[in-house]
Amino acid sequence: MKKHINLIFAAAAFTAVFASCSKSEASGTNLSFIEDIPTIQAFTQEAVPLSDLEKIVKAGINTQSAMNGQPWHFSVVTNKELLDKISKDMASGMKRMSAPDGDKLPPPPPASSGAKAGMGDSPAAIIISAKDGSEFDAGLATQLMTIEAVSLGYGTKIISSPTIALNGENQAEYKKALEIPETMNAKAVILIGKYDKSKADAVTGATPRKAKDEVVSFIK
Ligand SMILES: Cc1cc2nc3c(=O)[nH]c(=O)nc-3n(C[C@H](O)[C@H](O)[C@H](O)COP(=O)(O)O)c2cc1C
Repeated sequence: MKKHINLIFAAAAFTAVFASCSKSEASGTNLSFIEDIPTIQAFTQEAVPLSDLEKIVKAGINTQSAMNGQPWHFSVVTNKELLDKISKDMASGMKRMSAPDGDKLPPPPPASSGAKAGMGDSPAAIIISAKDGSEFDAGLATQLMTIEAVSLGYGTKIISSPTIALNGENQAEYKKALEIPETMNAKAVILIGKYDKSKADAVTGATPRKAKDEVVSFIK
């Protein structure tokens, strides 16, 4: 009997040591790719498996938030028809915004900027909704889901322009289709898919960043 109890203790001790090892190993993982995550402008249409989307939203669900309010909702969309509908609505919304004098549309991108990915261009998209005023928390969740997606080998692009359509005149219809809670509005979308480098190189196509001296102060 004593031998049996010893075995149980040994198994418990092994489990505890193994658990603590895997935790410290995880914290030592090389995450230097975070230093320069590219904005992907072209995706292949290869489907993103549900198991990967589950991992990506897990990063969002577990994100820190002020007073742990978790003031967000994530709509994971792989329905191409719905993504294309939002894209179409965006285009017509932009046209309406420009009426009646037609001079309020944003200027077209410079010819050198190359391809731009938008709603409907990626096989999967996560629409992030949040309570008004909770954009900081929602932004953290958005960024962590992006990092998880990149760590799984996907390319990502964060866009906020679809909110013109999602929070526009068809908002009630979108809220229902995307199961967005009544108290929240769409804030941003993460486009997710395999990076199609042959169409747009995210590294050479990237726009410059501000100089370190301009945005960072080291106070010693
Ligand atoms: C909150 C947020 C909103 C954005 N909205 C849009 C958008 O509506 N349309 C778009 O083409 N890109 C959008 N972007 C992408 C940025 O323009 C892009 O990440 C930035 O210009 C850097 O890209 P680069 O590294 O390729 O130069 C958004 C990015 C963020 C973080």
